[in-house]
Amino acid sequence: MKYTRLGKTDLDVSRICFGCWQLSPSFWGEVPVGPWADSVRAALELGVNFIDTADAYGDGHAETELGKLLKQDGTRDQFIIATKFYWNFADGPRHPDTTHDYILRACEASLQRLQTERIDLYQIHAWDAITRPDEVAKAFHQLKQAGKVRWFGVSNLNPEQMDLYRSRFEVSCLQPPYSLVARDIEARELPYCLNHQIGVINYSPLFRGLLGGNYKADSTITGNRAKGPLFHGEGLRIIAAAIEKAKTIGAEIGLTMPELAMRWTLTHPAITSAIAGVRKPEHIKGVVKAAEAPLDQRTWHQLAGLFAQAKAEALAAAK
Ligand SMILES: NC(=O)c1ccc[n+]([C@@H]2O[C@H](COP(=O)([O-])OP(=O)(O)OC[C@H]3O[C@@H](n4cnc5c(N)ncnc54)[C@H](OP(=O)(O)O)[C@@H]3O)[C@@H](O)[C@H]2O)c1
Repeated sequence: MKYTRLGKTDLDVSRICFGCWQLSPSFWGEVPVGPWADSVRAALELGVNFIDTADAYGDGHAETELGKLLKQDGTRDQFIIATKFYWNFADGPRHPDTTHDYILRACEASLQRLQTERIDLYQIHAWDAITRPDEVAKAFHQLKQAGKVRWFGVSNLNPEQMDLYRSRFEVSCLQPPYSLVARDIEARELPYCLNHQIGVINYSPLFRGLLGGNYKADSTITGNRAKGPLFHGEGLRIIAAAIEKAKTIGAEIGLTMPELAMRWTLTHPAITSAIAGVRKPEHIKGVVKAAEAPLDQRTWHQLAGLFAQAKAEALAAAK
């Protein structure tokens, strides 16, 4: 495993981060906790020291299970734990909430569920248009002073939104979506983060599993993913054809499709660590090689071009 410094923090994180969204039944259905727990253990054995979760994943379920497991195994201190707040699911119907008092409450609740005394990276899950950044800053200063949070990060924010926070507190990390078929952040967010030495941990590097190489043109993908235009019909057929070509490219350099897709994101100089979504040990074992495998510039651009064209054709076909 390779490790790298997260932005201007003192955290040396593995280049593959273990993502816990899979313990969110409303999106992924019920995921058995046994194999999931074994994947956390497998990840640790493979050198992964970085876990991403959120209070909203299963409305506390992911944090609770993670807390229980790390307590039982005595492995809390072997991991750097990142979690998030934003979705208030405690007060009536779920809604965004980044008000000062709510942040303090949400942090306390996360600490209890995770059975820990500190959160290493506390992230705002998304932009809250109706709360003054000063409120967030006040809460963050208090949490930092109390030693409950080490560093702060943001997710799904653009540079202007990051500026509003950065003028009030230190933003150490951005968590955006990034993969061979989701490259919007290359234009603005990634250069911004490079320029300001903000770490970037990208989510959905396999585009929620589509780039894992298991789906063929005639596969039936069920559940919430099926709604996406690339996950069914002509869109899937076109992407599946590109994946077959990519597999050949990967085979030439000794990488499987999930390793190649993951490696492709990690090759961008702004990316610190890629967050892998994991349900079972095979998932994490199937991507860790990406942390160390080389990928030359020619191949990076070849893959970028292949999927840019496939995505454009797939979206046009889906219209
Ligand atoms: N900040 C945010 O708004 C946000 C949003 C989304 C995610 N995240 C974070 O990022 C993490 C990763 O996102 P994601 O879950 O979308 O990630 P992903 O890695 O793109 O997709 C995960 C899915 O890919 C498939 N997969 C995983 N490993 C594989 C392998 N080795 N070979 C083939 N297929 C494999 C599995 O689905 P199947 O086996 O069912 O195909 C798995 O559920 C989440 O767990 C969460 O921590 C954050």
